[in-house]
Amino acid sequence: MPKRPNGPNIIICGTPGTGKTTHAELLASQTSLTHLNLGTLVKDHKLYESYSPEWDSYIVDEDKLLDHLEPLIPTGGLILDWHTCDIFPKSWIDLVVVLRTDNTMLWDRLEGRGYNVEKIQENNEAEIMQVVLDEAREAYDGEIVVELRSESAEDIQGNVERIEQWMEAWKEMEHQSEDEEENVDEDSD
Ligand SMILES: Nc1ncnc2c1ncn2[C@@H]1O[C@H](COP(=O)(O)OP(=O)(O)OP(=O)(O)O)[C@@H](O)[C@H]1O
Ligand SMILES: [Mg+2]
Repeated sequence: MPKRPNGPNIIICGTPGTGKTTHAELLASQTSLTHLNLGTLVKDHKLYESYSPEWDSYIVDEDKLLDHLEPLIPTGGLILDWHTCDIFPKSWIDLVVVLRTDNTMLWDRLEGRGYNVEKIQENNEAEIMQVVLDEAREAYDGEIVVELRSESAEDIQGNVERIEQWMEAWKEMEHQSEDEEENVDEDSD
């Protein structure tokens, strides 16, 4: 049995506005992976503790979110589209993509969404301080964390192609480890 029959579980994370959903949608349209926008999932399934009017966002109940996702993890093939990445058990995740955007560009994107200045500033500082990247590196093994620039349409296309190439290599590795397991089983017979 392959470890995850539907493919790897990939997190696409990054500061708000870096392009997670845009990347996840394109990747899902070009592969058999399923895009899970966790912000939408939290709202739809009420996986939150409360709503913060100050931040115009929901305070997520992480236990509820993890309980909701747990049954989906073993079959794999998921793109988890979420601003942060360090709440998931290491064993769930095969690749962590952290999107990065120049802060002036990010400011304009967030302004274009009508965010208030405090919210733009907070997010912009988080991007400058590479908060999400540091979280990712702390929570997962360095070799599965990839930092990708998201500043142009070409970046999106190129990044998605890179992820697809990584998926091919991942599948190859999975097949090899399955073959090795079978050989061990035969040897022990
Ligand atoms: N690489 C890019 N080049 C140009 N524009 C981009 C790029 N990535 C995203 N955008 C634009 O920036 C805006 C935000 O993108 P998107 O909604 O994908 O970000 P997000 O990271 O999912 O944000 P959130 O955290 O709020 O869900 C969109 O208008 C999108 O078209
Ligand atoms: Mg999004």
